[in-house]
Amino acid sequence: MEKNFKRTLVTTALPYANGPVHIGHLAGVYVPADIYTRYLRLKGEDVIMVGGSDEHGVPITIKAQKEGVTPQDIVDRYHKIIKDSMAGLGISFDIYSRTTSDMHRVTASDFFKKLYDKGEFIEKTTQHLYDEEANQFLADRYVTGTCPHCGNEHAYGDQCEACGTSLNATDLINPKSAITGNVPVMKDTKHWYMPLDKWEPALRKWILEDHKEWKTNVYGQCKSWLDEHLQPRAVTRDLNWGIPVPIEGAEGKVLYVWFDAPIGYISNTKELLPNDWEKYWKDKDTRIIHFIGKDNIVFHCLIFPAMLMAEGSYQLPDNVPANEFLNLEGDKISTSRNWAIWLHEYLADFPGKQDVLRYVLTANAPETKDNDFTWRDFQARNNNELVAILGNFVNRALVLTHKYFEGKVPACGELTDYDRATIDEFKGVKATLSEALETFHFRAALAEAMKLARIGNKYLADTEPWKLAKTDMARVETILNLALQMCANLAIAFEPFLPFSTEKLRNMLGIDKLDWNALGNFDILKAGDVINKPELLFEKIEDDVIQAQLDRLERIKQENIINNFKPKAIGPQCTFDDFMKLDIRVGTVTACEKVKKADKLLCLKIDDGIKGRTIVSGIAKYYNPEDLVGKQVCFIANFPPRTFKGIESQGMILSAEDADGRLVVVGPTGTVKPGVQVK
Ligand code: 2FM
Ligand code: ZN
Repeated sequence: MEKNFKRTLVTTALPYANGPVHIGHLAGVYVPADIYTRYLRLKGEDVIMVGGSDEHGVPITIKAQKEGVTPQDIVDRYHKIIKDSMAGLGISFDIYSRTTSDMHRVTASDFFKKLYDKGEFIEKTTQHLYDEEANQFLADRYVTGTCPHCGNEHAYGDQCEACGTSLNATDLINPKSAITGNVPVMKDTKHWYMPLDKWEPALRKWILEDHKEWKTNVYGQCKSWLDEHLQPRAVTRDLNWGIPVPIEGAEGKVLYVWFDAPIGYISNTKELLPNDWEKYWKDKDTRIIHFIGKDNIVFHCLIFPAMLMAEGSYQLPDNVPANEFLNLEGDKISTSRNWAIWLHEYLADFPGKQDVLRYVLTANAPETKDNDFTWRDFQARNNNELVAILGNFVNRALVLTHKYFEGKVPACGELTDYDRATIDEFKGVKATLSEALETFHFRAALAEAMKLARIGNKYLADTEPWKLAKTDMARVETILNLALQMCANLAIAFEPFLPFSTEKLRNMLGIDKLDWNALGNFDILKAGDVINKPELLFEKIEDDVIQAQLDRLERIKQENIINNFKPKAIGPQCTFDDFMKLDIRVGTVTACEKVKKADKLLCLKIDDGIKGRTIVSGIAKYYNPEDLVGKQVCFIANFPPRTFKGIESQGMILSAEDADGRLVVVGPTGTVKPGVQVK
């Protein structure tokens, strides 16, 4: 049954302030949340969107340690970058705060204390890895060692990045402290646990029975956690960065970052509305929606709700429309590998093109499965959709109005059947578009809005007012009146998605305020209203601009390969006799050319001091043939001949394979007689 809500609280996952935000964060969380919020505002509903930076936890302390600065320095730096760049993209937070605020410290601390006083925690003492020199317990990320699964010697205490296995720090072979390099010892430590098992039946009913309408990816992930059964979870940590655990005997301990971060939603609401915040959290008539990425599902659907149930006075979220992940040019986005498009850099590289990014990220949003962002798709969607359809239609309607009616809205005369059918199509889209937005199908919603622009474009192409202007000015008046009403409709329909362009359009049309309820109306503009001079809403993006972005990514890829190079493990032992079986010689290249119809192959003539020989080698990608002539190279002289593309190859040129796969031919460092042996 449809519930009638009086107000909506939209929360957005708090990004860690250990780096800037990238397109993955935007597509997963902030753009959809902003579309939803703008839509509700446009309908005149009571809605607030709260956000902020997640400034506690190990990711922050690790980054600080790497840079030799304090955690506060790190969060101050990234909070500002994140906040400014989100504002730059038009993410319309009612508040964007931070978890190091006083309001949050007090709110999270009181929340913990209340649960503690109610007896909602279990206290447990367990053994944990401890660095005696640094005098501190080691969070999983602070321990490195050998992965028990694949033998990678640089695995972290929570995960091996070589084989992808999740680990516990105590699983590592030869564990070492990342702080001092010492071998950690095991030491007793006391922590407080949320008994999630106690809340399992209530969570089961709340999600699996009462929220069958949730997205299948979210519902499915919750079901699988619940079916595996929930275990108590520690909500405190031994760390010196975070909110101190507010009870006696907990000195040196802080709240686990995943305990305090979601409470940040409450603190931010309080900071925004000190006297009125409770109705957004405690009133049954409020709808709470958490926008998050799929890696946050368990925290928002199971752990935070269990905390709220234990506290007792809060409403649970009505929906958690988590998205899947966005990849970049076929590879997983990664902050540590710099494989990302950073929002602040995009805004600097593409000034005035905020809506292009918003459009592409929505059209390609990872709503039901992981999706890929590519620069070519970005360019195509801008040029073929925003410029060619939406921008083109609006521009034609406005230019023609200036040309024939001195920029004033002409009167609407008698309608033809085609006019009426077109108006009906506009009216029809309103319901489907609203329905898609209300059910978090933002891609589909955007496609519906785009449908309106296509209809408008077709209407002008079919009615050809520029031709009728010679014979039937009355008809031109009606056509342009309708076309301008369509533009006004587009300003409304696209506002949640493209706020910068619709603002421009609204100004050009001279409309004061957009109202969702007017969507489908054809009397938004009155005859005689003045239309301002048209400006282009979108501009074509040229190939060289895209190529520059692709070149940047290519450079990053190469840097990553080089930086991550680790020599292969040494192979099994062999004997001197094994080695002596290979007859390795030095020869001088006397001629070299590409092998026809083979991209990879070069054919080399070698002076081997005897009668000369031909060798075919797979190095064409790395050398110009003429550059090798005159060089001395090492080759294996006693391999049996093999034929490549009809050429008999009498041996094998030796080369070193660099970290990025590039082959570099090996030769003596000084000149020697052709034909001498390498020993
Ligand atoms: O995954 C993350 O980036 C977390 N910082 C999200 C926190 S969401 C909320 F609980 F604050
Ligand atoms: Zn491994």
